[in-house]
Amino acid sequence: MRAAPARIGDPVGAIDSPALVIELDAFERNLQAMAVFARTCGMHLRPHAKTHKCATIALQQMARGAVGVCVQKVGEALALAAGGVRDVFVSNEVIAAPKLARLAALPIDVRLAIAVDSVVGIERLAAAVQTAGRQIDVFVEIDAGQGRCGVAPAEAGALARQVVAHAGLRFAGLQAYHGGAQHLRGVAEREAAIHHAVALAVAARAAVTSAGMACPLITGAGSGSFMLKAASGVYGEIQPGSYVFMDADYARNAAAPHAPRFAHALFVKSQVVARHLAHAVVDAGHKSHAIDSGLPTVWGRELDFINGGDEHGVLRPRGSEALPALGETVWLVPGHCDPTVNLHDHLVAVRGGLDGGVVEAVWPVDARGRLD
Ligand SMILES: Cc1ncc(COP(=O)(O)O)c(C=O)c1O
Repeated sequence: MRAAPARIGDPVGAIDSPALVIELDAFERNLQAMAVFARTCGMHLRPHAKTHKCATIALQQMARGAVGVCVQKVGEALALAAGGVRDVFVSNEVIAAPKLARLAALPIDVRLAIAVDSVVGIERLAAAVQTAGRQIDVFVEIDAGQGRCGVAPAEAGALARQVVAHAGLRFAGLQAYHGGAQHLRGVAEREAAIHHAVALAVAARAAVTSAGMACPLITGAGSGSFMLKAASGVYGEIQPGSYVFMDADYARNAAAPHAPRFAHALFVKSQVVARHLAHAVVDAGHKSHAIDSGLPTVWGRELDFINGGDEHGVLRPRGSEALPALGETVWLVPGHCDPTVNLHDHLVAVRGGLDGGVVEAVWPVDARGRLD
């Protein structure tokens, strides 16, 4: 593992590049804005920790009122629990018996929940939970329009019945999450996709009640859909993740009126290592930032970032912008925050801004690489 790129008290200029840097003032405003939103709407806030993979951040979210966090992977649950997080929902399907055994073997004071969309998944989960001698909350996932995991709404009741047939499993409600809809750029098209997801959730809830059961909670909404799902009156819990950092992709969405605004808080610090007549080259390529949602944008400068490969980024000026000098720092806003975080061992938290701030903390990315 790489040594931490900075020490507490270092000036920003001393952070070794490339490094993942959190601008704490913006980050804390983001945390607060979502916490206030959820509190005002009376919604459970269960932020998705797949974004930051960091127990310290999860605990900060919970200290501001989050009921717990979501993760996608058992390995993430284990890493965050080891870091002190005591309420974790695996908002994803897990089928492998050894993984389910690892999850169920977490300390009994960790409140656990998981999503299911198959009878096989339920049976294997029940076996793991029975061996561990614990209880687990189970959400039946429906396909809310994404065509990924989740059953059709009409099947939700039968699956909920399967859940309660097992002593260690408690039917906690439905998960109805549509990730793709959140990145539709226009407000109207985003609204249409989310309204469709809400209608599917309503149909699934009806299937559960027709099967003779109550549906305690409907969960599932991210940074691009939490407003609409909260307004629907159908969902009781939102799961936004990216709002803490706000990547360049989310910034391309047209902002919904009256939605809380979130600011970029995650940056890759890079340094110019070569400078030529018409371009400069920084030491951050796609081993420093994920490019699945587009290349990074350059913060505060009229510069285009061009893919220079694994270890390089090429910068070209727009208009009359000057090229940065050799050795100069250039701050990049990653296209997609979650997979970018997964490329780094540390998050360097800076107070006082990117120009002239000071390193206040260095947090490990506890669940880095936990794809298991
Ligand atoms: C089930 C689930 N909930 C919530 C989220 C959080 O979404 P976002 O990071 O866009 O806020 C994700 C992200 O992939 C997810 O898979």
